[in-house]
Amino acid sequence: MLKTRLTELLGIKYPIICGGMFRLGRAELAAAVSNAGGLGIITSATFPEEKIFRDELHKLKKLTDKPFGVNINLFPSARKFTAEDYIAICIEEGVPVVETSGHSPERHMDQLKNGGLKVIHKVPGAQYARTVERIGCDAVSVVGNETGGHPGMSEVGTMVMVRRAVENVEIPIVAGGGIVDGAGLLAALSLGAEGVIMGTRFVATRECPAHAAVKDWMREATEDDTVIVQKSIKSPIRVAKNGMALRVLAMEKSGASLDELMPLITGSRNPSVYSEGNLDDALWSCGQAVGLIDNIPSCQQLIERIMLEATASLANLNHLFSR
Ligand SMILES: Cc1cc2nc3c(=O)[nH]c(=O)nc-3n(C[C@H](O)[C@H](O)[C@H](O)COP(=O)(O)O)c2cc1C
Repeated sequence: MLKTRLTELLGIKYPIICGGMFRLGRAELAAAVSNAGGLGIITSATFPEEKIFRDELHKLKKLTDKPFGVNINLFPSARKFTAEDYIAICIEEGVPVVETSGHSPERHMDQLKNGGLKVIHKVPGAQYARTVERIGCDAVSVVGNETGGHPGMSEVGTMVMVRRAVENVEIPIVAGGGIVDGAGLLAALSLGAEGVIMGTRFVATRECPAHAAVKDWMREATEDDTVIVQKSIKSPIRVAKNGMALRVLAMEKSGASLDELMPLITGSRNPSVYSEGNLDDALWSCGQAVGLIDNIPSCQQLIERIMLEATASLANLNHLFSR
């Protein structure tokens, strides 16, 4: 047990959140994280119809009686099943926590709060944390440039961003981007964050539904094996540095338009990587922390280990300061 305002807010044992992960954040992974004392999250964009979304929630509720969350990506899109639809179902199904990302949740706050949901909004820059607080979110995740998925355009790293965000707001801050272990958790707490959000580390766990080839690649990869693409279209994303990423980068360099890039960057290509293990077939999110991963534990083993490591790091620091 490690109490912070975040663990109190969410009713969880440890201040560790597994962030939303398109196609991977499914019931099995979310339940494994929640059962291990963290906050597991299912990613609604993976379930773009009412029935499959409800089915996934029902599955999750059978697998865990602990708090869990749903990620709702608010990036503007033409999808038929809207954020309002997802939120309405979350309320009906008694989902306790929603993680929003991609765009400010301001216009959804009434629906979210009237429905009794706790809201954590994720931002890729400390300057946005103030707005998140002002519009009434319960907590804010700030993810630095190391992050898997979407960092901001600014390239500010987690260390500076979290510190700046802590100075900017009163609500609990969840630090993300590059955190995989107890030393990372302790560093985040000492910067003033009240919990951590991890994505990349949770991909390389037994319960994550990614193909074994993805996890094997991650075990071997170094911190130089990721790259940011899509800066040219102002939607930067940190992904594994694979054949597709290099192809997209080359096209961006030669001035390719969104229409030209679209067939290569669309998420509809992901199943080839995640289900079939064709590692070069699509862009897939992966953070720099991949260089710190060399094993594939269960979520329970991972979270227990992180807590032990954090305790050991703290003892080591106490020792240093008492000399
Ligand atoms: C494979 C993968 C898919 C992700 N998909 C999403 C997503 O759909 N929505 C979202 O808000 N964040 C997404 N993220 C970001 C994570 O929720 C989390 O904020 C991030 O991974 C934290 O940084 P880290 O990867 O360094 O641990 C994804 C990350 C990864 C690694």
